[in-house]
Amino acid sequence: MSSKKGLELKPNPRTGRYRLISGNWKMNLNHLEAIQLVQKLYFGLRDVDYSFSEISIHPPLTSLRPIQLLIESDRMRFSLGAQNCYFEASGAYTGEVSASMLSKLNVKYVIVGHSERRRIFGETDVVVAQKVKAVLSEQMTPILCVGESAEEREAGQTDEVLMRQVRLALAELSGETVSTLVIAYEPIWAIGTGLVATPEDAASGAQLIREELGRLYGGSVADRVRVQYGGSVTPTTAHDLLEAEGVDGLLVGGASLDAEAFSRIIRA
Ligand code: 13P
Repeated sequence: MSSKKGLELKPNPRTGRYRLISGNWKMNLNHLEAIQLVQKLYFGLRDVDYSFSEISIHPPLTSLRPIQLLIESDRMRFSLGAQNCYFEASGAYTGEVSASMLSKLNVKYVIVGHSERRRIFGETDVVVAQKVKAVLSEQMTPILCVGESAEEREAGQTDEVLMRQVRLALAELSGETVSTLVIAYEPIWAIGTGLVATPEDAASGAQLIREELGRLYGGSVADRVRVQYGGSVTPTTAHDLLEAEGVDGLLVGGASLDAEAFSRIIRA
């Protein structure tokens, strides 16, 4: 990412970690609408808005190439992200896209294991782990999504679910590799429901994830992993969620489809 003098991205002075705010558009907007939205977002942001957080945009596959060209030709300070990929490198997998195809488009971040993929498309922890590896093998960064459902939360199983999802998704990776990852804590009960987790919920999810990372890879690895919060984030709730202990950024769904709302979240 190019940057103007004095306005380079700064790490959070409290944690030393770089914040990341990501817009997951899910299955919304055709490529013409996508271009318009990115242009509108770009024109609405000031130079200083890029110094606080890195911003990644995750459009549907059909918009990756047009948005890549737009970002590169206008030197926009957005990182390109994808929402998913398959773990095999190539072959007879109708409808799928490989990590290497994404990396050729200069995709930097790939969301892996989103709860919608797990729930609607039956992705298991084992598949999620294979996808994490595929993304890493192409020098991209996975944004690994973990989170408990409402039932699991009510049954007091949040800790267990988060620990299991983290452990299985990262199985066989070295601590050095794990330290480069982004993990998004996305409680399923807060996704698309308007039920936003409190900053305390977000902090507690981030803490559980870091504790498990610490047990598996040691404290210095756990300290370097960036943890986002996702689930019904709005311009009104973004500031307090970003200030929550251990939270290094946001993974925004619905509100990232509105340039005005997403830029207010970025400024939060
Ligand atoms: P919403 O912000 O629409 O709740 O979606 C969150 C999400 O799933 C981001 O990946």
